Formats: sequence, structure tokens, C-alpha cells
Amino acid sequence: MSKIIAIANQKGGVGKSTTSINLSSCLAEKGKKVLVIDIDPQGNTSSGLGIDKNRLENSIYDVLIDEEEITNCIHKDVYENLDVLPANVNLSGAEIELIDLDDRSYVLKNKIDKVRDDYDYIIIDCPPSLSILTVNSLTAADSVLVPIQCEYYALEGISQLIKTINLIKKKLNPELEMEGVVFTMYDSRTNLSAQVIDNVKENLSGYIYETVIPRNVRLAEAPSHGLPINYYDSKSAGAVGYRKLADELITHS
Ligand SMILES: Nc1ncnc2c1ncn2[C@@H]1O[C@H](COP(=O)(O)OP(=O)(O)OP(=O)(O)O)[C@@H](O)[C@H]1O
Ligand SMILES: [Mg+2]
Repeated sequence: MSKIIAIANQKGGVGKSTTSINLSSCLAEKGKKVLVIDIDPQGNTSSGLGIDKNRLENSIYDVLIDEEEITNCIHKDVYENLDVLPANVNLSGAEIELIDLDDRSYVLKNKIDKVRDDYDYIIIDCPPSLSILTVNSLTAADSVLVPIQCEYYALEGISQLIKTINLIKKKLNPELEMEGVVFTMYDSRTNLSAQVIDNVKENLSGYIYETVIPRNVRLAEAPSHGLPINYYDSKSAGAVGYRKLADELITHS
């Protein structure tokens, strides 16, 4: 049975794409068959996995506007066990094009249904908004994983995100579950990171991943080489963190 996980938080720069890239790659390393779907017009997950987003013949945009079969848009074996459905700036037009469709919230779900049995995990990297693209992702997903950056404003926007998740559960996807929260960019040298974790634990119910992703410069460097962390620096603290997260996800789900 495949599992579809949306990585979502409308707050920008919290580690959604970094988590999508490296969690996927570490799941693939463990022998799981993984598809990463980039549904953010910024295309950070696509470029971070070494795909030249400015030279795409087909992308998720073509899938969503029904121009091309999903199977023709997936880049196969980008890394061992890892396929990618990439995005680029063209996707920003999709929002307007989908607006008139009656089933506009189900477009991604209907497309993924055709390939879901080919994978153990499908990971969707959402944009930093609660737009129709994020709604499509949450409607298609079995669960949502929320990265939270260990910084002072971590909780800002989380209540809005939880409201959106509950609304989608009620109206569009009753099966949607909260996969949990994962803390990113943890800095062990400051008290702030630990305080943020305590504060979120007090204010948020639901599963909180034991694995905490450290702030690690190798994680920040890897995308400019188009490599996931386990290929870029397999022994780095970032690689250790994302491997542990992959293990925890496998046991938890
Ligand atoms: N654990 C980490 N250690 C160091 N740098 C990190 C870490 N996680 C993410 N970064 C860096 O922080 C920045 C934001 O991360 P990322 O792009 O993953 O966030 P995002 O939530 O996807 O952003 P957006 O909302 O714009 O899509 C990037 O430059 C990334 O390389
Ligand atoms: Mg991103």
C-alpha cells in the first residue's frame, strides 16, 4: 500500500523543500520506491534534486491542466528508487486555469491515482501558501507532515494551517490524517531552539517526531550541487538526521 504525504506549512522558509528532498532520498536509500511531487512554482525540490527546472519539456503544470499524461511528466530514476514530478514557474499560471473547474480541488488526486500503486511513498512539497495548489495536495494526501523551524515565530500561522487541514478533512478528504510535526534547523548552541520545541509541544496536540533536524550547513549547500544530503555528504549531521526521520516515518506509519 502506498502512502501519500504532503509536506505543508504556509510559512515560508521552514524547511519544507529540504525535508521533501532529503526525507524522500533517505526513504529511497532504504529501498522504498518513492515519487517526489514538486507542486511549488519556485521549483526548489526539482532543482535540489538536480533537475534543470528551466529546461523542462513537461512538468506538473502540464499534468494539472490536462495537457500531458502524468506518466510522461515523471522523471524516472533520478536517483535509485527515486522518481520526480518536477515544477517550475509555469505552475503559477495553473491557479487561474483551475479556478473554473468544478472539481478543481481534486485534480491532483485524480492524476496521482493512476500511478500511486507504483510507489511505497509519494511525497508532495507544497508552496508557502494555502492556495489551490496546497488544497489539491491536501486533498490527494493520506497525511500531512508539518515542518516547524526552531525560531521565535514558529507557531505563527500554525493555527491557520490546522484550521485548513480540518476544513479539508470535513469537505474534501475525510481520510486526511496529521502525520505529525518535525522540528527543523535545531541549534543546540542556543536555548531558543529548545524553548520553541517546549512551546509547540504545549500548544499542539498530535504526533511530534522524536527526530529533530539540526541546523547543518551541508544541508544548505547540497541544493546548489543538485544533490540530496545522503549523496552530497553521507556522514553529515543533516544526513544522519534525515535518515533517522525516514526510519521514524516508516515505523510510525
Ligand atoms: N536543517 C537545515 N540546516 C541549515 N539550513 C537549512 C536547513 N533546512 C533548510 N535550510 C535552508 O533554509 C532555507 C529554507 O529552507 P527550505 O527551502 O527547505 O524551506 P521551505 O519551507 O521549502 O521554503 P519555501 O516556503 O520558500 O518553499 C534554504 O536556504 C535551506 O537550504
Ligand atoms: Mg520550498
